[in-house]
Formats: sequence, structure tokens, C-alpha cells
Amino acid sequence: MEFSTLAVAVASSTYPITIGRGARHTLRERLASFGAVGRISVISDSNVAPLWADAIRDVVEVGFVEVIPAGEESKTLRTAERLYDAFGREGLGRGDLILALGGGVVGDLAGFVAATWHRGLRFVQLPTTLEAAVDASVGGKTGVNHAAGKNLIGAFHQPAAVVIDTEFLDTLSERDFRAGLAESVKHAAIRDAEFFEWHEQHAAAILARDPDALESLIRRNCEIKADVVAQDEREAGLRAILNYGHTVGHAIEHAAGYALRHGECVAIGMVAENHAATGLGLMSVAEAARVSALLGAMGLPTRVPPGAGVEADTVVRLCRGDKKSRGGQVRAALVDRIGRAQEAVVLSEDVLRAAALAVIGGE
Ligand SMILES: NC(=O)c1ccc[n+]([C@@H]2O[C@H](COP(=O)([O-])OP(=O)(O)OC[C@H]3O[C@@H](n4cnc5c(N)ncnc54)[C@H](O)[C@@H]3O)[C@@H](O)[C@H]2O)c1
Ligand SMILES: [Zn+2]
Repeated sequence: MEFSTLAVAVASSTYPITIGRGARHTLRERLASFGAVGRISVISDSNVAPLWADAIRDVVEVGFVEVIPAGEESKTLRTAERLYDAFGREGLGRGDLILALGGGVVGDLAGFVAATWHRGLRFVQLPTTLEAAVDASVGGKTGVNHAAGKNLIGAFHQPAAVVIDTEFLDTLSERDFRAGLAESVKHAAIRDAEFFEWHEQHAAAILARDPDALESLIRRNCEIKADVVAQDEREAGLRAILNYGHTVGHAIEHAAGYALRHGECVAIGMVAENHAATGLGLMSVAEAARVSALLGAMGLPTRVPPGAGVEADTVVRLCRGDKKSRGGQVRAALVDRIGRAQEAVVLSEDVLRAAALAVIGGE
């Protein structure tokens, strides 16, 4: 079988991404290329493990599988501690390896415990959601949520490899598939106007999960993310553009009690942040409308659904606690024209509140 591969070259390491239907069959060979690999453990969630853990057991010898409850609520220190307990029981050590089999929740959490157990074990990302395939599995940001906000506890820890088997996506719900498309629109909007247009032209094929369209989409996303991360692994500057839609998006995600998908909140967050960008005269109203139209065409929400219990004041307060804010000043990555973004634009409280209100409440 022929699979598409690309390399992520960051200061701390270089690692391969393999993409394709059946790509998991390259896993044994990939692990062999690392030299001596000790015991292999799999971390997965309660939805994914019953569907796909055996497919991993079929290709590599697995020591043990730890299954966390599915959902964002599991991305906590408490769950991390349960995993550490299992590692202790099993005697997992430096030479051993963790496979993260799941969506962004499993990937972020497994990456975080891999970063911290014995100060760092090797881990491999096996994304099973589109969100994880186009974004979360690449780049080495790992972490968990805290009561004060999303992803507030974390570490940079690059995977040793990423293997994206698009067959895993066959079992993904329609809602989760669409949620993943938000990050693809994000990558196109901040970095690649042609790719943005490609989404507009291929919306039907993308939504139908046409294998060629899907593979092209995943590959281009990985290229864009790998390129940005290679230039700025630890978010000293450029990498912050990847947070487009996430300043307001994370606040909405948290304020809604994690009842909405991450990607859905990012979609709504991009619309809100575009509102801020047009208000500041950075982006034209026509460009903002084009982003909203594409999100709509991808089946994504562009406003907070009624009844989600999200208030503008809560969103403003949570944005202040965002990792990108400095001295109480909220900063966001804003798109000024499709294909190009600015890293850290200061948003005044008034601009932020207006942006939040633009996506909250009745029509
Ligand atoms: N580290 C990063 O750079 C980065 C980037 C983007 C997102 N994230 C994080 O990723 C998380 C969101 O990821 P997500 O949307 O994948 O969420 P998720 O991991 O919760 O997966 C969504 C749902 O799909 C289910 N699922 C996963 N794979 C499946 C499959 N193949 N078949 C059937 N069901 C399946 C899961 O059990 C879950 O219910 C957020 O916590 C976000 O902060 C991190
Ligand atoms: Zn995201």
C-alpha cells in the first residue's frame, strides 16, 4: 500500500506523518524505525476502544489498553492521575511507548501524561476524529483543562510519529465530522486563500467524505500546521495565528459547559473574531461574510445555539483568563484578508463584548 507522508521538522525533533486509508498497517514498521521500543500501551476512550482497539492489536503487540470515558469532561488532571496510577501498576518506564488512539481529547491527555510520566515517554498519535487528524495530533501541544479555563495546564511534547488512518473516520458521527472541518476552514483562512477556495468548490465531496477529497484535505491541513509549527514551535510569535477563532471559541466552549463540540465553538469563535476585525477596520465585511458562508456550507454553526446558556459577560471574563491575554489585555489572532492573519491584536472590552453579542442571542 502507498501512503502519503510528510515530515514535521521542529527544533526539538523531526517526525513523520503518514496519511491514508489503512495507514495503521505501517505502524509496526514505523515503531521498528525507532530502534528498541519497550512495552506498548494504548490510551483510548469509551467510544473508540470498542471500535478500533482490536485493529491496533492486530498490527502491533499491545501490553495494555487504558480506556477513559469519552468526552471533553475527561480532559482533566483527575483522569491524568488515573492514567499515572495505571502506569505505576504496570511499571511503565522510560523505554516504553504510548499510543494515543482517539480524538483530540485522548491525544491531548495521552500526550500530557506521556510528557510528564518519568519526565517524558515517547508517544504516537493515532487520530480517530477529523479534528485530531487535521489539527490536534500535529504540533506537540498537550494538556488538560482546569476549572478556570480550557487547556490551562499543559506541556509541549512532540509525538514520535503521527499515523492518520482515514478508515478510522468511517465510524465518526456526522456532527463530529463537521466539527473537525472548522479547523480546516481556520487553517485555510489564516494561511492559504487557494485552499479556502478549494473548500468552497468541493463542499459536497468533503461532506460526502469522498476518499480523495478527504485525503487531500487532511494532507493540506497537516502541511499548513507543520509549516507554522516548524517556524515557531513554542508560540513565541507566528504560531499564535493558529488560535484564530479560539480566543472567543474557548470562552464559549467553557461557558457552555462543554456541551458544544470544540470545532463548533471554533466556528462560532471565528465569526465573532471576524466581527471584531471588521469593527477595527482590519477585515472587509465581504471577506467576513465569505468565511461565515463557508462555515455554513460545511454544516457548522455560526451563532451560539439558543439555550446553550452562554452570556456575553461570561465570554468577556473568560477571554481575559485566556493564555494569550497579557496584563488583563485580551489578544486574539485576527484574519485581515482570507489567507492571511495577524498574531496578536489587542481587543478592548467594548470590541470583545460586541463580538460576543454578535454570535449570542436571537436572530
Ligand atoms: N493539541 C492541539 O494542538 C489541539 C488542536 C485542536 C484541538 N485540540 C483539542 O482537541 C479536543 C477536541 O477534539 P475532538 O473533537 O476530536 O474531540 P473528542 O476527542 O472528544 O472526540 C469527539 C467524539 O468523537 C468520538 N470518537 C472519536 N473517534 C471516533 C471514531 N473514529 N468513531 C466514532 N466516534 C469517535 C469520541 O469518543 C468523542 O465522543 C479539544 O479538547 C481541543 O482542545 C487540541
Ligand atoms: Zn482547535
